[in-house]
Amino acid sequence: MAGGACTDPYPAGLENMYSNCRRRLQEGCKVTMVSINGSMQREDEASISVFDHGFLYGDSAYETIRTYGRKPFLLKEHLQRLSRSCESIEIAMPWGEDRFRDEMARLISHVEGDEYILRVIITRGRGRVGYKRDTTQQPTVVIICSRFRGFTEDQYLKGIRLAVVRTRRNPVECLNPGIKSSNLLNLRLAFQEAEKKGADEALMLNMDGNIAECSSSTVFFVKEGELVTPSIETGILPGITREFTIRLASELSLNAREETVPHEMLQQCEEAFITSTIKSILPVCAIDGRSFSSIPGPVTSMLMKAFDEATKNYR
Ligand SMILES: Cc1ncc(COP(=O)(O)O)c(C=O)c1O
Repeated sequence: MAGGACTDPYPAGLENMYSNCRRRLQEGCKVTMVSINGSMQREDEASISVFDHGFLYGDSAYETIRTYGRKPFLLKEHLQRLSRSCESIEIAMPWGEDRFRDEMARLISHVEGDEYILRVIITRGRGRVGYKRDTTQQPTVVIICSRFRGFTEDQYLKGIRLAVVRTRRNPVECLNPGIKSSNLLNLRLAFQEAEKKGADEALMLNMDGNIAECSSSTVFFVKEGELVTPSIETGILPGITREFTIRLASELSLNAREETVPHEMLQQCEEAFITSTIKSILPVCAIDGRSFSSIPGPVTSMLMKAFDEATKNYR
């Protein structure tokens, strides 16, 4: 488990897996289109009112969805979570699944490239300054569709560095991390801290000092060959990729435990990886000072391959 793992040569068999990813990255993201309340606009034209409560208060819910084969992946799950987030903050979900699906397809047809990232934002809408309930306020629906630019091939093959940060994940009683809201300062500050430490992503603890999640990803550890990930009760976002990864693990007959994960896990685990819609499964090569010896480790590799297969079949 000792040092220098981030510069290990690429493990056999994984180069081909990411050749498509490399090609997409070389092409770069050229065009973005935005839909605001169903009106399609170019990125340099798209704007909303400064009196929109999404802007004034971060009073909104959002989802980030990526496509495989130009089709939004796990769309139902994302829209269900969006609906739950809206319900939690008492914003009426303005559109149904079909309308979202149609608008996404319309945006995708106007953006160059093979694969896309769709960010759906529902704000409380334009209103008076202040928190007083305004029954005339109508939610604003924004969908930003950009060509997909993922992490680099190098990062998938050599891993990324995590730093444990001082900023704690805000407790459920203050602002439930289960609500995917655009009120993101807690996560942004955590990421800034990690950046200053030279890391790629911030690993946050909850107020009890247990491991929670990263600034925009959930975290998994491999200990004695078994997967361990913080439970939702820890106070984290119920990640859609996290759930999908647990399902893949079960198909591979790998045990995945969702539980309270103490800080000591960082010294005890053999492998670690993070998951998110944009990153899929991304191996970790080091956490603070500690490096892992093989990147991706055997369990992480199995899951990465299974994820790749599952999304290939989706295409
Ligand atoms: C705080 C946080 N945790 C986890 C995730 C990963 O969630 P998902 O897999 O649903 O993209 C995100 C994604 O943005 C996030 O912001």
